[in-house]
Amino acid sequence: MARVVQYEKVGGPEVLEVVEVPDPTPSDDQVLVEVKAAGINPIDLKLRSGERPAPFNGPRRLGSDAAGVILEVGSAVSGWAPGDEVIVRGAHGADATQVVASAAQLVRKPASITWEQAAALGTPVSTAYQVLKSLEVGEGTTLLVHAGSGAVGSAAIQFAVAWGATVIATGSEANQQRMRDLGAIPTTYGPGLAERVRALAPGGVDVVFDAVGTDEALDASFELVPDRSHIGTIAAGARAADLGIRAWAGGSPVPLTPEEQALRAEAYQVVAGLLERGEFTIDVAHVYPLDEVAAAHRDIESGAVTGKVVLVP
Ligand SMILES: NC(=O)c1ccc[n+]([C@@H]2O[C@H](COP(=O)([O-])OP(=O)(O)OC[C@H]3O[C@@H](n4cnc5c(N)ncnc54)[C@H](OP(=O)(O)O)[C@@H]3O)[C@@H](O)[C@H]2O)c1
Repeated sequence: MARVVQYEKVGGPEVLEVVEVPDPTPSDDQVLVEVKAAGINPIDLKLRSGERPAPFNGPRRLGSDAAGVILEVGSAVSGWAPGDEVIVRGAHGADATQVVASAAQLVRKPASITWEQAAALGTPVSTAYQVLKSLEVGEGTTLLVHAGSGAVGSAAIQFAVAWGATVIATGSEANQQRMRDLGAIPTTYGPGLAERVRALAPGGVDVVFDAVGTDEALDASFELVPDRSHIGTIAAGARAADLGIRAWAGGSPVPLTPEEQALRAEAYQVVAGLLERGEFTIDVAHVYPLDEVAAAHRDIESGAVTGKVVLVP
C-alpha cells in the first residue's frame, strides 16, 4: 500500500490526513516513482486553506514537487528506466510515498544534491527561470526582486546574478545577509521602499520580478519602472491585466504559453550546470516525516521559516 496526504474539506492544517491507498498504477505514458522527498510550496497551503478555490471531486491530494526513484515505466515511455533518480515537477499528489508522473514531468536528479534539495528545486527554480527569461533579464539589467528571500526569489537572484544582472532584492531585516550572500543588494520591504531602491540603483531599475503581490510592492514598482510591460508578477495574477503588468499563473486566468512551459522545463538543465560549478545553493530549512504534514504546514504558516520545508516518507 502507498501512503498519501489528502483532505476532504478546506480549512486549517488539521484537515490534512495521511491515508493508505492501493499502489498507484502508471498508464502507458506514465512512470511510477517512489518518493524520497516532497517539497511544500505556498500554493499547497493556499489550496488547503481555500484561499485559492478549487473544486472537490472526492478527497483532494496535495503536492506537486517530489524527488525519487522510478519503480515502473509505462509501455509508451522511452528514455526512462526503473532505478533512475528523478525530480518530478507539476505532479498531482506528490505528498505521498509513491506518485505517478508523465515523462514530461521528469527531470534527471543532479547527483551532487540530496533528495531533500532535489524536491525543493521543483516549482521555485522553474518559475524563477521562466519569469526572468520572459522579462529578458540578462547582462547589464538592473532587476528588482520583491520577496528575494523566498524560495522563488532566492532562485531568481542566483540566476540573474549568474547572467550578469545587478539585483536589488527585498526581504525582512533577518534575511538581509542571506540575500547579500546570494549576490543581491538587499533592502527591507515596508514604508519608503521606492526611495530605498532608488538610492541603491541611481541609474534606475529596468525590470521588476514581483514574488509577493502586495500593494506596497506593486506601487513601488510603478514608481520605479514606468513601462509596466517590464513588471512581472507571480503572486498578483488576478489583478495583473487591470494593472497592465505581466503575470504567470499566481491567480492569472491566462494559462502559460507552450514557450513559457518549455522554459520552465529548461530551467533544470541550466540549474544542473550551476550546481555542478557550485554557483547555486538550495536552502532546505526543515524536514518533516510525511505523517507530520500538518505540523509542516503550521511551521510555514508561522512565518518564521526561511528556506524550503520538505516531507520525507
Ligand atoms: N505563479 C507561479 O507560477 C508561482 C510559482 C511559485 C510561487 N508562486 C507564488 O509566489 C509567492 C512566493 O513563493 P515562494 O515559494 O518564494 O514563497 P516563500 O519561500 O514562502 O517566500 C515568501 C517570501 O515573501 C517574503 N515576504 C513576506 N511578506 C512580504 C512583504 N510584505 N513584502 C515583500 N516580501 C514579503 C518573505 O520574506 P521574509 O521571510 O524575509 O519576511 C518570504 O521570503 C507565493 O505567493 C507563491 O504562491 C507563484
